[in-house]
Formats: sequence, C-alpha cells, structure tokens
Amino acid sequence: MTRVVLVTGATAGFGEAIARRFHAEGDRVILTGRRQERLDRLQGELGERSCAVRLDVRDQAAVAAMVQDLPERFAEIDVLVNNAGLALGLEPAWKAELQDWLTMVQTNCVGAMTLIRQVLPGMVARGRGHIVNMSSIAATHAYPGGNVYGATKAFLTQLSANLRADLVGRAVRVTDIEPGLAESEFSLVRYKGDPERAADPYRGVQPLTPADIAEAVWWAVSLPDHVNINRIEVMPTMQAPGPLRVARSERP
Ligand SMILES: NC(=O)c1ccc[n+]([C@@H]2O[C@H](COP(=O)([O-])OP(=O)(O)OC[C@H]3O[C@@H](n4cnc5c(N)ncnc54)[C@H](OP(=O)(O)O)[C@@H]3O)[C@@H](O)[C@H]2O)c1
Repeated sequence: MTRVVLVTGATAGFGEAIARRFHAEGDRVILTGRRQERLDRLQGELGERSCAVRLDVRDQAAVAAMVQDLPERFAEIDVLVNNAGLALGLEPAWKAELQDWLTMVQTNCVGAMTLIRQVLPGMVARGRGHIVNMSSIAATHAYPGGNVYGATKAFLTQLSANLRADLVGRAVRVTDIEPGLAESEFSLVRYKGDPERAADPYRGVQPLTPADIAEAVWWAVSLPDHVNINRIEVMPTMQAPGPLRVARSERP
C-alpha cells in the first residue's frame, strides 16, 4: 500500500533523506520547508509522486491552510514526520540569547504541536496514521549548553508518549526518534553559519548520516500496523552516554 507522507524540514539533512527514503519505496511525499529553491529542486527530481509546499512551521495559519489546500492525491496524510527543528547557540544559560530560546521553542515545540493538531483529526477519522517526532538524545542526556534545545526535545519525547496514551485503541501510531551526533546542516545552523565551529563536533569521529536516521524512521513506519515502536535512541558507535560531571573545589 502506498502512503502519503508529510515531512517537515525536507530541504536538508534528515528531512530530505526521509522524504527520499519513502519516495524510493513508492510513497507520495509532501515536501515542506522555508527554502523555496531547495523545495523546487527536490520536487523536480522526485517528480509527480511529490508535492512541495513552502512552509514555516511557526506560522500557525499557514500550517492550517497547507493541510486544507493539499491537492487531492496528497490530502489524506498517512504519515506525519515532525522533523523541522534547530538548535541555536551552545552558550551556558546565563549567556544564551533569549531570542534563540524563543525561536527553538516556536520551531521545535509549537511547530510540531501545530502540525499534529491539524493532521491528527483526519488520521483518527480515517482510522489510520503514524506520527513520527524527531526528538534527540538531548531530551534525556543533558550536556553543557544544551539548555533550552534539550528542553524542547524533552517536550517532544513526552508529547509522543502522551499522544500514545490518548490514541490507545485507535490505529494511529506514534514514534519518537532520538538521534545522537549526526552530520547535516544542524551544526552550521547552531553556530550561525560559522563553518569552522560547525565542523568541530565531527572532527575525528564517524557521525550518523541523515540516511541512517531515514532508515530508522522507515523501519518504524513499515512494520505491521499492530506494532508501535514508541522510542528509538540511536547514536554513532563512537558516542556513548558519559559519566556524571563533578565540579571539585581546588582544596586538596
Ligand atoms: N543533526 C543532529 O545531530 C541531530 C541530532 C538529534 C536530533 N536532530 C534533530 O533532527 C531534526 C533535523 O535536523 P537536521 O540534522 O536534519 O538539521 P538540518 O540539516 O539543519 O535541517 C533542518 C531542517 O529543518 C527545517 N526548518 C528549520 N526551521 C524551520 C521552520 N521554522 N519552518 C520549517 N522548516 C524549518 C530546515 O529547512 P528550511 O531552513 O528550508 O526551513 C531544514 O530542512 C531537527 O529537529 C534536529 O533538532 C538533529
């Protein structure tokens, strides 16, 4: 059975890889993101089983209009991948920009919530659907400078669990994906376009690739309908949870 798959943030990284993965399996994909030229390029490449809609997930009216105005062949969304998101800055909380925090909350939390609220009623009415939320290991593993970014991802992880609680007994599945270090434009966005600093997290390590994450999403969605994968935490082999930090005083 072919599905209609809506991917937010399909103009780069995980979202693009996820859209390509589902499209390669014969599904119809709705590509969204803010960068029109990237959307045009990907849609041109994928062809008629794709449709592109320029969308800023923070714009609640635009999200509602998109869901309402989809072409007929794409109107019944089977899979929503809430992937659009970003981290901004890596400063300690007392130095971080408040505006960066607000942008992360608006994009990672409010954006995903808005998409869910617009798409979920149709899934419930049709008695089928799958919501995939792109959280992060930052949801559970705190790190210095992760402050509000990690909190937005914890929100998504808990929202995923609570959606499961609401949806139990209905054929709508929810999966929370929690990736570790992965190479994409993520770091360039976090460091606001500074390529030197953006390269730092990947130095001397083989990170996850967007294709690795797309494979995890594909696997969770392609399992039989009676199977719900609640959470997937995935790290590169060269990354692991560390010991708790202890700040020791200078005294001997
Ligand atoms: N890379 C990692 O190490 C990592 C690890 C764990 C979790 N994640 C999460 O995975 C998701 C994808 O990240 P990525 O690594 O693929 O980063 P990326 O390469 O920077 O891609 C992010 C995508 O989100 C879109 N986006 C950002 N703000 C948006 C907005 N306001 N409205 C609509 N789209 C927006 C971007 O598209 P436009 O700029 O065109 O709008 C882009 O397509 C994010 O939620 C991120 O937090 C990443």
